[in-house]
Amino acid sequence: MKWNSLNSLFTKIFSVFWLLIALIITALIFLPLLDGRQLQPLSDSDHEDLTQQHTSLSELIKKNPTLSHQSLLYLLSNGTDKEIYLTDLSGRLINARAPRKMRQFILDSQAPDAPLKKINTYKTYFGPIAITHEKQGILIYVSVPNQKKSLELVEWLLDNPLLLLLTVIIISAPICAYFAWHLTYPLRQLRDISTKVAQGDLDAPFPSIKNSDEFTLLAKSIQLMVISLKNMLNNQQRLLSDISHELRSPLTRLSLALAITKRHSGETKELQRIELEAERIEEMIAEMLSVSRIQLHQAKKEELALDDFLEDLFLDAEFEANEHQKLFTYPTLSDTSINIYPELAYRAIENIIRNAIKYAQHKIQVDIKIDKHTITLSINNDGPLIPDSELLNIFRPFYRLNESRERETGGAGLGLSIAENAMLKHGGKIWADNLGNHVSMHLQFPRFN
Ligand SMILES: Nc1ncnc2c1ncn2[C@@H]1O[C@H](COP(=O)(O)OP(=O)(O)OP(=O)(O)O)[C@@H](O)[C@H]1O
Ligand SMILES: [Mg+2]
Repeated sequence: MKWNSLNSLFTKIFSVFWLLIALIITALIFLPLLDGRQLQPLSDSDHEDLTQQHTSLSELIKKNPTLSHQSLLYLLSNGTDKEIYLTDLSGRLINARAPRKMRQFILDSQAPDAPLKKINTYKTYFGPIAITHEKQGILIYVSVPNQKKSLELVEWLLDNPLLLLLTVIIISAPICAYFAWHLTYPLRQLRDISTKVAQGDLDAPFPSIKNSDEFTLLAKSIQLMVISLKNMLNNQQRLLSDISHELRSPLTRLSLALAITKRHSGETKELQRIELEAERIEEMIAEMLSVSRIQLHQAKKEELALDDFLEDLFLDAEFEANEHQKLFTYPTLSDTSINIYPELAYRAIENIIRNAIKYAQHKIQVDIKIDKHTITLSINNDGPLIPDSELLNIFRPFYRLNESRERETGGAGLGLSIAENAMLKHGGKIWADNLGNHVSMHLQFPRFN
């Protein structure tokens, strides 16, 4: 497959990161420039104002050479909304205390031959003007309230770093979330499909992944993997089915020979044993054939009424349990519908119920739980519990817990394997646990697919 570098995941992640970092750096550089509160040279009209101030001040001092600083200040600011601050030539405040922003301005602008201006949110600062008073050089700074009092958003944010951070988080979170979601979407599609494959659904349809080269390649590899897995399984099942099939002919001949021998030389203990074992082999072959038939099952699912479907099964089970002097109980069946492969579902439930009857001491009880997406049948029986370490093993083909314990119960150890295969074919689950003094087998069917 051709590598389309523009559409590649690498290019996408690289560009998003690159763009984001470039944006942050640009914002860091340019945001302070948006702040109108900068030191700036005086405009012509400001110059005129200051010269006028200077003249009137010099005249005031000339007329009243003995004025104290305090009275000077009073006269200067009287009747106006100006605030005046005096410093010595080294910038130390002479009169009252000054607010923080004025003190900062005094530090920033100390050259009387190049006075500056700073427009803050509420006030504008000017200065310094140099005059001589009581034979001492004095610098004068002025602040006047601004006309416009509304707080600019940028200034407000710059003054509140925490709010700025919060704004950045609020704006960037959905953008980043969108990118992350968009980039990982194909990955999630692939995860869903691999989960289905892991649960045994090898026929799950593959999503078409178009928006990224790497993911498309990955999807293709997984698809190839699923195809080879399917082939391997099919081959294995075919082999199993062929072997079972081929074994039948010699077995039939063996049974025939056995029958003839019995007729000739009468029934003996050894012949009885041979007959019993031959029957067991036949039973095993039949079950092996049904395992492979389930795995190769091609039919369509059908929507059936749950009560109709289960009723006959449960009535048969009740009958069989009674035959063995055991009690089989089940709940009233609701008229919910269920989407199943009838033959496979029947075999799965039947195998579990037959186990329960076989291994129960006195009682078998069925519970049915109907959820939004699943229907779970739990079949409980009293009797010997299954050790926790064996709860998974018992689903393996030919696995029986305790050969000697179960020799008399018969069976090949294929029942649970058949049930598991049938459940996997449904996209459902099967599991076992011990609840108190009961063994509990759960069959979970998906309701709608
Ligand atoms: N309800 C149960 N209670 C106790 N043990 C159980 C129960 N169901 C299954 N087992 C254990 O799990 C083993 C495997 O069960 P499985 O149905 O596969 O085989 P089987 O019943 O021995 O033979 P088959 O079903 O092929 O006739 C059984 O041999 C038994 O030890
Ligand atoms: Mg069984």
